[in-house]
This record gives sequence, structure tokens and C-alpha cells, in this order.
Amino acid sequence: MRNFEFYNPTRIVFGTETVAKLADLVPGNARVLILYGGASAKTNGTLDEVKAALGERVVLEFAGIEPNPSFETMMQAVELVRREKLDFLLAVGGGSVIDGTKFVAAAVEFEGDAWEIMQKRGRNVKRALPFGSVLTLPATGSEMNSGGVIMRKSTHEKFSFMSRFVFPQFSILDPTKTYTLPKTQIANGIADAFVHVIEQYLTFPVQALPQDRFAEGLLQSLIEIAPQAISMEQDYDTRANLMWVATLALNGLIGAGVPQDWASHMIGHEITALYGIDHARTLAIVLPSLLNVQREHKRAKLLQYAERVWHISEGTEEQRIDQAILRTREFFEGLGIQTRLSGYQLGEDAIDAILLQLEAHGMTTLGEQQNITLEVSRVILQGAL
Ligand code: NZQ
Ligand code: ZN
Repeated sequence: MRNFEFYNPTRIVFGTETVAKLADLVPGNARVLILYGGASAKTNGTLDEVKAALGERVVLEFAGIEPNPSFETMMQAVELVRREKLDFLLAVGGGSVIDGTKFVAAAVEFEGDAWEIMQKRGRNVKRALPFGSVLTLPATGSEMNSGGVIMRKSTHEKFSFMSRFVFPQFSILDPTKTYTLPKTQIANGIADAFVHVIEQYLTFPVQALPQDRFAEGLLQSLIEIAPQAISMEQDYDTRANLMWVATLALNGLIGAGVPQDWASHMIGHEITALYGIDHARTLAIVLPSLLNVQREHKRAKLLQYAERVWHISEGTEEQRIDQAILRTREFFEGLGIQTRLSGYQLGEDAIDAILLQLEAHGMTTLGEQQNITLEVSRVILQGAL
């Protein structure tokens, strides 16, 4: 196991009717900005519940954070916070709203052009406003981590940033808040969480036994609950498990002391930036092909994954690896997610465009061994046609 530091200060408040606890979680004298997305927080009643819990505090709202939150939109929130001298942010929504809020928290306190936060991947963040979240979409893990992803529409750049100053102070996870999600978003959430685990697990062995077993448990939990989750029944236990698995998948725990990949995410972000395809869907396009192309470097872990997660124990090593990759692809397809570029009407010319983006953004040595060069990314994308 590698050396590591593990730090996670986010308080999780989990369960039904927990939104009311905002009354205690937000400082009594706070001047609050509630940030949310399109219509969902309003139509499903969550926003009203949040406002009721905040009581007599000064509360302003910022609506309209889009999926894949944009720098352009979030800078409007930054201006509002500065103008109204607000001092506490509250995100109500999914990963996009929480990521956007993280950016606002850091940008309000940042001197200079706030896009530099993204260009430096958050290394230049020295402080941030305090904030919390009410999660309505289990997927990204943003509710309990210190990362965010922001897109600059004008330049088609989608960058992630990390800073210990943007851990949420608290996140409220009420599984009943997921009941209004459409099937496509439930499917996206399962796929995103699945790939988060894979990016931290399916690399090469470093004798990190608890991390491996924990990761395998999360993957198996997702496989177990997926059919019920996408059946759209309002089944509390299924939604509770999905919500907690998605949080645990990217809160630092399973990634501590192990090599990490993240190439599927980096390539996927470019696909979203260029073609607007949902984040999770880009991962489902890239991952199966990446596993195939990287099979030599990931051999030991692929065989472990095949055996422990999919119970594949027969056949030659190549056959078992082929089977594991096939089961992974079928898992995504079973969620209703297409796993090939052609399924999104993209072909060879898209590959050239994606590679140009990767080059422009310095994404030329990806993966746990930094051996995914542009040429290897091309082979991965060709395998995903
Ligand atoms: O805008 P509204 O009307 O709220 O609708 C949203 C949105 O259209 C809807 N939604 C959310 N909760 C709902 C609901 N609809 C009905 N009922 C509810 N309870 O869902 C749509 C998608 O929301 P979004 O927040 O975009 O989805 P997700 O949580 O998947 O977040 C995706 C973003 O997170 C980034 C992605 O790149 C992408 O920008 N990621 C962030 C990460 C992190 N911070 O650690 C890691 C991830 O790898 C990922 O990159
Ligand atoms: Zn993701």
C-alpha cells in the first residue's frame, strides 16, 4: 500500500425528513444564497422545504445552473454574492449544482480572473466561503469530496479542480429526494458511480486489501440494486443504497493509498465539452474500450475484477478478461446507456476533434502509468466507434 493522508471533514446527514436539520446546520446569523438548477428543486417541493428550514435568515436564490455548470453562469452568482455580501452558500441539486457552488465559494474569495482557478486545477485556491448541500441526484460524490468540474462554454473547455477548501461543511442525503428523477438520470448515476470505483480500483495491485474489497463491495452493490433502481419504483432501500454507494465511491476512502487511473474521465470530459453528451454516458463509451486497450497493464486487476465482481473463473486469462469487459459493457447497456460513439451519431471525425482537445489541454500522458498517449487515446476511441 502506498503512503497516504486521508482527510474528509464533510458531515453527512442521511435519511428521511432530514432537510429540516438545516435549521441547525446553517449558522443562525448567516446571509444565505441557495443555488439550484432548472425546475426540479422547485417542482418537487425541496426548495420550499429548504426555505422553511432556514426560517428568518436572510436568504437569496440563484436559479438556472445548467447540467455541466458553466463558468459564465457561475460568475453571475459570484457577482450576486459579492453585491449582497452573502456569507453562506447552499447547493440544492445534483453534481452540477454542487460543483457550481464549490466554484462560487472559491471564486468569491479569489483575487484576479477566476478562470485561473480552473487553469491551475484549484492549486491557487487559498480560501473559500463555507457551504453545504442538499443532494437530489446520487452520482458524482461531489457532496462529500473536494472536487468540481466547470465548463467554459465560449471555448469548449471542461476542467476539473480540487481544493481542500471546497469540501462541503455538510451534505443532507435524503433518498426520497431521488424519487422524482427520470430513469435516464438514475441510470447515469449508477454508471458514474460505477466508473468512479473502477478508476480507483482497476489499475495494478499494491497489496491494498481493504481498498480492493471495499471497491468490489461497492461495484457489487451497484450491480445488485441496478435493476430495481431503474424499474422506477419508489423503493426506499434501493434509493438509500444507491445514494450512499455513490457517495462512498468518490469520497477519498477507496482511493487512499492506491494508484488511480481517471483516463476515462479526462477523455469523457472532452466528449461532453464538444458534443454535450451526459457525463456518465461519455464514461460508458470510453471505459470498455480503454480496458481492452490497456489489458496488458491492467492484467492482474482485470482478472481479479472478473473473478470477484463477475464470478468469472473459467477459461484462459484472455477469455476471462474478454468476459469481464463484455459484462461491463452489458451492464451499461442494461441501464439503457449506449456504449459506442456511433450510438450518439459520432464517427471518425469526432475522434480527431477529441484528440485535438486532449492535446490542447495537456492530456497526453493519462492513466495510472501515464502511458495513455494521444496515440493510445486514438486507439481507445477507435475501439469505441
Ligand atoms: O436542473 P434541474 O431541473 O434541477 O434538473 C437536473 C438536471 O437536469 C436533474 N435533477 C437533479 N435532481 C433531480 C433532477 N430531476 C428530478 N428530480 C431530482 N431529484 O438532473 C439533471 C442532471 O443533473 P446534474 O447535476 O447535471 O447531474 P449529475 O449529478 O450527474 O452531475 C454531473 C456533473 O458532475 C460532474 C460532471 O462532469 C457533470 O458536470 N462531476 C463531478 C464530480 C465531482 N465533483 O467529484 C465527479 C464526476 O466524475 C463528474 O465529473
Ligand atoms: Zn464521474
